[in-house]
Amino acid sequence: MTGPRPRFVWVDGVVQRADGSHLSVFDRGFQLGDGVFETLRARAGRCTELAEHIARLRRSADGLGFELPPDIAQRVELGIAALLAAEGLDGPETDASIRLTVSRGAWASRGLLPPPDEHLVPTIVVQAWPVVPPVAGHLDRGLSLVASAVRRDPQNPLVSLKTTSRADYVFARLEARRAGADDALFLTTSGHLSESTSANVFLVRRAPDDVVELATPALDCAILPGTTRSWLLRWAGSVGLRPVEGWLTPDELAAADEAFVCSSVAGILPVTRFNGHPVGSGLPGPWTLRARADREAFMRGS
Ligand SMILES: Cc1ncc(COP(=O)(O)O)c(C=O)c1O
Repeated sequence: MTGPRPRFVWVDGVVQRADGSHLSVFDRGFQLGDGVFETLRARAGRCTELAEHIARLRRSADGLGFELPPDIAQRVELGIAALLAAEGLDGPETDASIRLTVSRGAWASRGLLPPPDEHLVPTIVVQAWPVVPPVAGHLDRGLSLVASAVRRDPQNPLVSLKTTSRADYVFARLEARRAGADDALFLTTSGHLSESTSANVFLVRRAPDDVVELATPALDCAILPGTTRSWLLRWAGSVGLRPVEGWLTPDELAAADEAFVCSSVAGILPVTRFNGHPVGSGLPGPWTLRARADREAFMRGS
């Protein structure tokens, strides 16, 4: 990530200097990736879709089998407000990206099996950065993606959770870098499109009945159920596109008129190359640019 380094972090209720030490080495998030997280945007101190992110944080923790404190939403809201104020990221024209991380907690013992929940206190961290504009070229030229060697198994119960266990994703990002691409796209074990390392994927294409479709892998294609994805499926209907959720193939991506990836923090970014071949015209398409502009306007609250 580029951009200025944070000066502060919020850990378990307290704003602290970012360059201090904050966590126990026994924290299971650090030791085992036994935690969950969310990334979101805030404009002028106001978070976009915070309730949806907290709901997904809860679902992820639930899926890993640990309970978030019942007042997690209030705690996190206070944490975000305190941190944005400390960082000076709550000004009227300021866009911040925020990461919420909650681990199962620290336990000074060896082994995978956590103790009963009552012995552990989840560690809660909030971090914030100014939103940096997309890397030069990502908007005008679009992203180039390569298929990762890591396949995603739709039967894996963890695959749709946002856990801090991200080794597969780091591995795939490095694969992309080695291939000279911007990001990697995961395929399912059956070879269908899943998602990129930090975003959902969409195609724009004309269907045989001449209707323009906005198509995305279905929820059971080993994807994170993205908040931006849900917004886009609603947006499609409002602009005359037919939303489609299904099992899509790499050939369908290659043959699409346009493609893009989407996430809360980076917004909507065109995809113009896949495995070294152009997608559509090889340039960002008009529907992609419109979707990006509409989503950015939504996040600005206009
Ligand atoms: C693997 C993955 N898929 C999809 C997304 C998009 O989710 P959202 O739109 O809720 O940010 C993310 C976001 O970080 C992600 O990490």
